[in-house]
Amino acid sequence: MEPILKAVDISRVFKINDKTEVHALKSINLEVPPDKLVVLRGRSGSGKTTLINILGALDRPTSGEVIFDGKEITALTDAQADKLRRYEMSFVFQSVALIPTMTAYENVEFAMRLVGAPRSERAARAKECLIRVGLEKRMHHRPGELSGGEQQRVAIARAIANRPKLIFADEPTAALDTPTGLAVMNLFRELAHEDGLTIVMTTHDTTMMEMCDVVYTLEDGEITDVSENDITDKEE
Ligand SMILES: Nc1ncnc2c1ncn2[C@@H]1O[C@H](COP(=O)(O)OP(=O)(O)O)[C@@H](O)[C@H]1O
Ligand SMILES: [Mg+2]
Repeated sequence: MEPILKAVDISRVFKINDKTEVHALKSINLEVPPDKLVVLRGRSGSGKTTLINILGALDRPTSGEVIFDGKEITALTDAQADKLRRYEMSFVFQSVALIPTMTAYENVEFAMRLVGAPRSERAARAKECLIRVGLEKRMHHRPGELSGGEQQRVAIARAIANRPKLIFADEPTAALDTPTGLAVMNLFRELAHEDGLTIVMTTHDTTMMEMCDVVYTLEDGEITDVSENDITDKEE
């Protein structure tokens, strides 16, 4: 199958000052197949965040190309990149970044308001997304009244609300204990395999990467291994 996302010869150099440069990524090539859960694994400092930011058009590479859904996205204007991030991709971060004064429902609904979704659609879709992530009973709680795992689920509901094709998640389980992290990973698997989303995430946790379909290993800014896990989803 055609990859939904492709990185071709990506490098990223950070200039610290006149004398110092950091080569955070060196000649990265990768392909993300659609409807899969793909992980970038590696130690702290290996380049995971730099790479995910470039794949998600939050940052530009020093050289190389990112092709998303058949289109080159590395040369977009800021406005074009904003539009892409609004409608076709979304992000989930380790620090959840929900609006603390809004309930779970309002946080999700607000994300839809930002893209101009009609009012009539917003309510039903926000509820549907919160139900999808298992929060039907917590919809009207504020983030401060939810556990870390529940807050991450709200962030995921918010990320799927506008029906993106791709979700990027940078260390989405790092702040969670192992059982809670595994439950989030199970949800990601379901979203990829049942809801037609592609998910690209990062982690340094072996337990979490075992749940992913494709594992890219990063070391010192380079991909040193690609492997596929063949896990059968449990029957309901
Ligand atoms: N904005 C930046 N300016 C300078 N160096 C950076 C910047 N962002 C990341 N780096 C450097 O790039 C390398 C990769 O960092 P990062 O992508 O954050 O790794 P990871 O997410 O795997 O921990 C590190 O050496 C880091 O210090
Ligand atoms: Mg990082």
